Amino acid sequence: MSQDTIESILQEKRLFQPPAEFSQKAHIKSLEEYQALYDKAKADPEAFWAKLADRELDWFQKWDTVLDWQPPFAKWFVNGKINISYNCLDRHLTTWRKNKAALIWEGEPGDSRTLTYAQLHREVCQMANVIKQLGVQKGDRVGIYMPMIPEAAIAMLACARIGAVHSVVFGGFSAEALHDRLNDGKAKLLITADGGFRKDTAVGLKTQVDKALANNAVPTVANVLVVERTKQKIHMEPGRDHWWHDLQKGVSANCPAEPMDSEDMLFILYTSGSTGKPKGVVHTTGGYNLYTHMTTKWIFDLQDTDVYWCTADVGWITGHSYIVYGPLSNGATTLMYEGAPRNSNPGCFWDVIEKYGVTVFYTAPTAIRTFMKMGEHFPKARDLSSLRLLGTVGEPINPEAWMWYYRIIGNSNCPIVDTWWQTETGGIMITALPGAIPTKPGSATLPFPGIVVDVVDQDGEPVTNESGGYLVVKHPWPGMMRTLYNDPERFRRTYWEYLRPKNGEFVYFAGDGAHKDKDGYFWVMGRVDDVINVAGHRLGTMEVESALVSHPAVAEAAVVGKPDEIKGEEIVAFVTLENTQQPSDELAKELKQHVVKEIGAIARPGEIRFTEALPKTRSGKIMRRLLRSLAAGQEVTGDTSTLEDRAVLDKLRGGA
Ligand code: WT7
Repeated sequence: MSQDTIESILQEKRLFQPPAEFSQKAHIKSLEEYQALYDKAKADPEAFWAKLADRELDWFQKWDTVLDWQPPFAKWFVNGKINISYNCLDRHLTTWRKNKAALIWEGEPGDSRTLTYAQLHREVCQMANVIKQLGVQKGDRVGIYMPMIPEAAIAMLACARIGAVHSVVFGGFSAEALHDRLNDGKAKLLITADGGFRKDTAVGLKTQVDKALANNAVPTVANVLVVERTKQKIHMEPGRDHWWHDLQKGVSANCPAEPMDSEDMLFILYTSGSTGKPKGVVHTTGGYNLYTHMTTKWIFDLQDTDVYWCTADVGWITGHSYIVYGPLSNGATTLMYEGAPRNSNPGCFWDVIEKYGVTVFYTAPTAIRTFMKMGEHFPKARDLSSLRLLGTVGEPINPEAWMWYYRIIGNSNCPIVDTWWQTETGGIMITALPGAIPTKPGSATLPFPGIVVDVVDQDGEPVTNESGGYLVVKHPWPGMMRTLYNDPERFRRTYWEYLRPKNGEFVYFAGDGAHKDKDGYFWVMGRVDDVINVAGHRLGTMEVESALVSHPAVAEAAVVGKPDEIKGEEIVAFVTLENTQQPSDELAKELKQHVVKEIGAIARPGEIRFTEALPKTRSGKIMRRLLRSLAAGQEVTGDTSTLEDRAVLDKLRGGA
């Protein structure tokens, strides 16, 4: 974000109070109540979380220690025995919720399906039995590569039920990306589908799977379970591939949930960092269950009459925590939609809200801006009066988009919760509680009870109010990542040793820059590392650069983000070519396609700029700051004295 944007955002004076009738019925009803909860949690976090764990979740066996903190490694609810699939399903079956809609699915084109808690439980138990038959045991890793269909959630819950560790790979990732993730986790089984619907077309998933597994490239994967979705013609490898509908036939719907240790691994989810390959973020069972449960309950203010819809894909952490685990643990009705915003169907989100009477709606700024551009007549032509609460996540929301969301979608009477968090944090960390905390457009507002956050300088020392710095978390919390899969040292280095305050305390470095205003409100400004946020998707510049240099024509590549009106940021790649190569539009196209093949469509560069050389420091570091300015069409300002060859900059300016 430019200094101008930051300054204009910090000028924001508008303050929106929660509507009185909302607050009266809310779980947390006033700022005073929030403050009291917050203070209590801060004074004794362990007592705070223990009380909630006891009240809100079912345990097979109670823990004996709430928190074992050996920085930076935490264990929560030590020796507690619990199963998140049990908390999401079984415990609701003995209540009136047994026949309540657990999962409403709106598919494409025109398909839909609703599963009650009893039905969902049945499907999950059957899939759990099937994957056991396929040789999966407690602790084994299972890859899930699925479109947005109920079986994606069923597969996750089935793994959790038997203690298998799921590793969901977003269905938009390429065969290459899938291959790398499956190999890193040494998955034993892969659950997938023939294909899925993406913006009006049936896209193949199984074909990508076949590529990823070809020539025994992932030797640990012995079986592939395939859900039929698009009915595309696909290859089924004898002995390896099995149709779900075949194996489901006649399989028992009785599969007791395995008592898991609170610290047993629940899932791995890969996310991008500033260096090297994607990181396998590890989340465990008990703390994650509690944290997603509590944040869902208080932030989305779930009541039994709600129809709650989070538009994320289950392939991301938002889908894990706020489509599947958080809402189901609360016994809520969660909606899953296979479609996405697109010009061919400019009212699609609003149709879903109208059709199901959605009351709580959680989406991303990029989607809001897309719909904003399409025009307000689309939402205005639908009945959105069921809505009572709106949420946003994924990137900073600009005040214009916030106001549009508030006025046009929320009819100026729905609070907006702008939720800041990350794959690593497991659940939401900074947000308004909708009945309690007044909101300011563009600010995620205040930390969730039990969460201690601050803005610090390079030395890890708190900055004075209102000056910018690094966003950090100062105390462990139940939903925090436990480690990086097979790489505890990288976990320690990246997150906990990057900033070290003088007092020797460990603080968690989130990778974001932020400001705290005079009211203590947080304004998250975006990544300060080499991570780009394209339409709410997190991509490492190094990842995209490696993809580019793996093309034979490319000598060197440097990737930066450029501000984009809809997507927040867009990828611009500066590329130098091998001697024998000439820049051309065709080559630019080919390179973009190459990145799609290596990573997936989300990583497609918006622009390729061929150049003779990249600006580097004398020690050979690429000066990305300069490239960012150039990509954004801004004057290159600031210190350029470390630049090795000033002529490079002049050439780049000249549009070389
Ligand atoms: C990064 C995490 C966890 C949600 C989905 C993305 C950015 C996320 C906000 C927000 C400003 C936000 C941050 C963060 N981000 N939410 N409300 N305001 N920035 O998860 O892929 O792990 O990305 O998304 O930069 O570090 P993720």
